[in-house]
Amino acid sequence: MNTESDKSQCPVSGDRPLFPDYDPLAPDNKQDPWPILAKARREQPVFWMPQLQMYCVTRYEDVRTIQKDSRTYSNVGANFMRVPLPEGLEIPPGCPFPSVGESVANADGKVHKRLRKLMQPTFSRPAVAPFAPQIEKIANDLIDDFIADGKADLVSQFANKMAMRTIAAVLGFAVEDSAKFRAWTDQFLLLMGTPDMGEDEARTLWSGLIDWYLYIQDMIQDRRKNPQNDLVSALMAPPEDESIAPLTDEEIAANIIAFIVAGTDTTAIYITQTVRLLHREGLWQSVVEDRSQLERIMEETLRHTGVVRGLNRVTTCDTELSGVKIPAGSTIYWMGASANRDEEHFEDPDRFDPDRKNVFEHVAFSAGPHFCMGAPLARLEAKIAFNAIFDRLPTLRIPEQEVEFQPNFITPTPKRLLVEWDL
Ligand code: HEM
Repeated sequence: MNTESDKSQCPVSGDRPLFPDYDPLAPDNKQDPWPILAKARREQPVFWMPQLQMYCVTRYEDVRTIQKDSRTYSNVGANFMRVPLPEGLEIPPGCPFPSVGESVANADGKVHKRLRKLMQPTFSRPAVAPFAPQIEKIANDLIDDFIADGKADLVSQFANKMAMRTIAAVLGFAVEDSAKFRAWTDQFLLLMGTPDMGEDEARTLWSGLIDWYLYIQDMIQDRRKNPQNDLVSALMAPPEDESIAPLTDEEIAANIIAFIVAGTDTTAIYITQTVRLLHREGLWQSVVEDRSQLERIMEETLRHTGVVRGLNRVTTCDTELSGVKIPAGSTIYWMGASANRDEEHFEDPDRFDPDRKNVFEHVAFSAGPHFCMGAPLARLEAKIAFNAIFDRLPTLRIPEQEVEFQPNFITPTPKRLLVEWDL
């Protein structure tokens, strides 16, 4: 039993410890989460969040335990649509909705192993490397659109478009349709994350998702007949191991949606937050002049910023973390952002230090069987984005402003970041 949690002054709800200092739904500009989370790690490292009906887990060791043990802490049932399908709307055959579909993010055990085995090679470092010239062009085209203005909103004019166009390009969708993908992704996230929604809005959003599925289904059918040099065609190639059943169209559709949802806001936040951090830490000029530091800076940014603040699991049996007993069937929120600031694992964790000896030990991409499948693509894309910005906007600066965040407990997203440069 952990004595620190026994000593806590925190109240309890039934047999569930609470930690009211932390409000998971407060936007970052209203609440600086880091000192509060440091207090939680010391005093109440596992606590119940009544707002979300979940246990929050804050320490590095506990978070790693959850990430690595998918038998006890399962992804199955952890993500679901909180808004039910309105009556009268027909779901086309093969459509992964109204559940979130059988993607890698919603499976475990043998089902998950098979999906990862079939898809991981498609997203490996060597498989995504040939897309570099296309991604460089996306970055430069975006900068062309605003460079003469001497100022831009980095979020809407660069980071968001960069992330969506890149994923569209590597999967093989027309880049011109990436704005539609943005809207569909937002609709998907709203249906997952909004418990109380009016009937009319629910109907509009669900109809949008069905359109998204029909668009993806058309593309899959086209690639079955006319394979191209893209990742969706690669997912259709017969498996090297003939004992494994190839991916079905339904599985490809569910996973395309997972790649887009998992790979857009994340990378956009990463790009934006890195630009902010480099300025805050006074490192901008030195990295513009010497890119040899970039790799370690990129890793330290992942540790420091909490791009994905945390994600869910469901417990399959009674368990215990940091002395707190958690019953089977509970929803867990493992907080990677807090784990990455755990003083028991990272010395002086609030300091931004690309030279720290364990800079690669962050859990920003998770660990274990669900380790981010898009990590090689995210690193490639972000590196290309940073180099394009350093090369073309070397005098970029961030004028005084309050950066507002979307209140989102999974990926707190900066709404805008005004930047300017010399013409
Ligand atoms: C900086 C950018 C990114 C960050 C910080 C990030 C982080 C994460 C995290 C924390 C997970 C959760 C793993 C778990 O449940 O244990 C994850 C899963 C995943 N990510 Fe990423 N991600 C990023 C970019 C991408 C991109 C570009 C893609 C595009 C393909 C992608 C695809 C996925 C997929 C498919 C999963 C589910 C893997 C599974 O459950 O087996 N991610 N990512």
